[in-house]
Amino acid sequence: MATHTHIPVLVDETLNALQVQPGGRYIDCTLGAGGHAAAILEQSSPGGQLLGIDADPEAVKIARARLEAYSGSTLLLNDNFTNLEAICIKYDFLPVHGILFDLGLSSLQLNDGSRGFSFQHDAPLDMRFSPSQEVTAADIVNTFAESKLAYLIKTYGEERQSRQIARHIANQRPIKTTLQLARTIERAIGGRRGKIHPATKTFQALRIAVNHELEHLEVALKQAINLLGFEGRLVVISYHSLEDRIVKQFMQQESRGCICPPGTPTCICGHTAHLKLINKRVITASPAEVQLNPRSRSAKLRAVERIITKDGYYKAAEKMCFAVEVRANGWRRPSLLKKLRRSLICDSIGTFSTVYIN
Ligand SMILES: C[S@@+](CC[C@H](N)C(=O)[O-])C[C@H]1O[C@@H](n2cnc3c(N)ncnc32)[C@H](O)[C@@H]1O
Repeated sequence: MATHTHIPVLVDETLNALQVQPGGRYIDCTLGAGGHAAAILEQSSPGGQLLGIDADPEAVKIARARLEAYSGSTLLLNDNFTNLEAICIKYDFLPVHGILFDLGLSSLQLNDGSRGFSFQHDAPLDMRFSPSQEVTAADIVNTFAESKLAYLIKTYGEERQSRQIARHIANQRPIKTTLQLARTIERAIGGRRGKIHPATKTFQALRIAVNHELEHLEVALKQAINLLGFEGRLVVISYHSLEDRIVKQFMQQESRGCICPPGTPTCICGHTAHLKLINKRVITASPAEVQLNPRSRSAKLRAVERIITKDGYYKAAEKMCFAVEVRANGWRRPSLLKKLRRSLICDSIGTFSTVYIN
């Protein structure tokens, strides 16, 4: 297990954006070392509850030890956040007051000499968040066609010299370790560019590809909004422009009513707003935080609040009343209750207290 520490970024800003309150129910989709989770639990006590998820079993172990004092009010799971909705249904953890995504990888993973995330340590080219994933960075580096590799490095690394790098990699294969890859990239495009090591962007590209980071983010964001109760908050911290673009576009789209192309005479999309933007401008770390924790330099925080249309609210309330009636009459048909619970999630609801169907 890694012994380094991970300093959570934008903690006060996150608590503020989530509007953490005593007795609230929260989800940390990227538990990591449990830094944000600890702050949320502290501020939501007494009575706060937290569901923490991380794809990395090592991270969950570390967070579990750190959050031991709150073991009665936490549910910590080793899972992928693409299973967010299924997890919440399984554990009846909905609706919630707030959901946090603090994307990317933690300092623990970066500094763990055996995981292959960094060219500072010589290690096998792995880069998987979870050992249950099949494809490693070595598989990609050694089996992808040169053109596919160049495309991946260009798209996920925003690397302008992707073709040169891919050509050198193809000529040097098999490449098995982080240092072997870093040296190959250095030979392809020369030494340092300012403070940035020439291998930085390629390593980012490989990590994103190995862990399907962008696809998983898109899937999870869609699930997250339907788990939020009325005025529940969704907060996302991203670290590079590819992630931030997805978050920004998702939040903007879901906070707009009609999304028909400009110039369409009457609305044909039928789209309604589910969210309200909290911060129109992205929140970044203060110079003092950046000095203390250089990792926070690239952090961008965006937040939205769940809203519900009048129609949606009445539809959900109707179903809720029916569900309560079902419970009162002692009518227990698991399949029906399951169906009800699902439809409540889909429409979201107006209050936190009455919706729980056991
Ligand atoms: C920046 S760290 C989070 C740090 C955490 N906020 C803290 O305060 O310690 C990001 C974490 O998200 C996890 N992660 C990334 N993608 C994931 C996914 N699709 N599902 C679950 N966890 C994921 C990583 O394993 C990593 O531990």
